[in-house]
Amino acid sequence: MPLSIIILAAGQGTRMKSSRPKVLHHLAGKPLLQHVVDASHRLNPDQIIVVIGHHADQVREQMVGQKLDFIIQHEQQGTGHAVAQCFGVLNQGNDILVLYGDVPMISPMTLEVMLKDTSDDAINILSFIAENPTGYGRIVRHENDNVIAIVEEKDASQEQKGIQESNSGIMYISGNHARNLVERLDNNNTQEEFYLTDVVKHAVDSGLKVSATICEDTEEVLGVNNQTQLAKVESLFRQKQAIKLMDAGVKLYDPNRIDIRGCLQVGSDVEIDINCVFIGDVVLGDHVKIAANCIIENSTIGSFSQIFPMTSIDTAFIGEKVSIGPFARVRPGTQCADGAKIGNFVETKKAQIGEGSKINHLSYVGDAEVGKGVNIGAGTITCNYDGVNKFKTIIEDDVFVGSGTQLVAPVKLARGATVGAGSTITRDTPADQLTLTRAKQLTVAKWSKPVRKKQE
Ligand code: UD1
Ligand code: CA
Repeated sequence: MPLSIIILAAGQGTRMKSSRPKVLHHLAGKPLLQHVVDASHRLNPDQIIVVIGHHADQVREQMVGQKLDFIIQHEQQGTGHAVAQCFGVLNQGNDILVLYGDVPMISPMTLEVMLKDTSDDAINILSFIAENPTGYGRIVRHENDNVIAIVEEKDASQEQKGIQESNSGIMYISGNHARNLVERLDNNNTQEEFYLTDVVKHAVDSGLKVSATICEDTEEVLGVNNQTQLAKVESLFRQKQAIKLMDAGVKLYDPNRIDIRGCLQVGSDVEIDINCVFIGDVVLGDHVKIAANCIIENSTIGSFSQIFPMTSIDTAFIGEKVSIGPFARVRPGTQCADGAKIGNFVETKKAQIGEGSKINHLSYVGDAEVGKGVNIGAGTITCNYDGVNKFKTIIEDDVFVGSGTQLVAPVKLARGATVGAGSTITRDTPADQLTLTRAKQLTVAKWSKPVRKKQE
């Protein structure tokens, strides 16, 4: 039977103490809800329905452009009520899998295991063994192991409170029975809510089979209700990512000190020193070495390249055998060809840097095309901005720019040109010749140092 996934995300999340809706808080650089949506897609469902309520507009806006159906639950009258709202858009007869927008670590693999073998079940619950089950619904089983009820904490007897097997909230309901079971829910309980968990009771009353799959990795079903839990989930997520990287052969100097806020793809023999942050989609080729305290965002770094400490690289394409940093700032639109070098305290932006070219120290190169084999001396600045518009600097192959030079754009340095140190270049320079702008050096004759006046 085709599958419809329902993600419950209408709750307010009061305990986050934040103006931002709970499911939009970030874990590893993306909203909690996005993690659940991404896991959902991996199951190839027929449809994904997201139930929203608090800050519905913000949530919808954040998820715009994705293939999702949104249902607004105006009043949060319980998880059962939330699911009942979906029947309007739900493809008739589909099996249903209910997920929570604030349970972000759930893996597609666990869900697949749970969905397998549900052929004769009306309901299958993803449960877990809680060390401290306080607050969770408890799974009540018959002697034959079938589930006969889920009892909410507030409605549980003393004996039931002793049960450790707990409800993660994630639940499969067969398409043959879903509508009928959900329509029978009422709110006759301590919280006066429509509990989704009561479908179990109704199924059992109708002689249907209910089972529970125990989730071995309890971290996957952790919910986020406050900032402490969010930090915990973040740290567990980080550990999992670090382990994945190490399994792929990456040398991490300390797996507790790496942050991956997105997707990091790695080649073989990659080394990453401590306190590096990877944001968005980052690709590292074979034998890439990243030194301590680097921040790399949405960039590709080619094989055998080395990034030295304290370097920031954002939206850049770095070729092979390139060396960058320490203390470099590589800004969006930088394309660095093989064997190039960007040294300390160098900033680049919208710059193409050709094969083997070097910008070793203290320079700003923006809106520039730099050819092959170019050497840009320390303290060179492309003056690309007149306060209103930006202009381009073109530096052709094999140019040598002396230290302390300003290149006032638009300007072009033709192939093989040399610019003398300390020049302010405002016009194009010819190929293979020395150009410089410099006041003549002079020494003043008969000059003597001033002497301090005597105090009266
Ligand atoms: C629920 C389960 C409980 C389980 C626990 C796991 C029920 C009745 N209880 O309890 O057995 O152990 O989760 O964490 O289902 N939501 C809506 N609309 C509503 C109510 C809730 O969208 O009207 C959403 C919330 O935003 C949240 C999720 O459903 O993402 C769970 O709701 P919550 O109120 O936290 O359920 P619990 O009482 O914790
Ligand atoms: Ca909860």
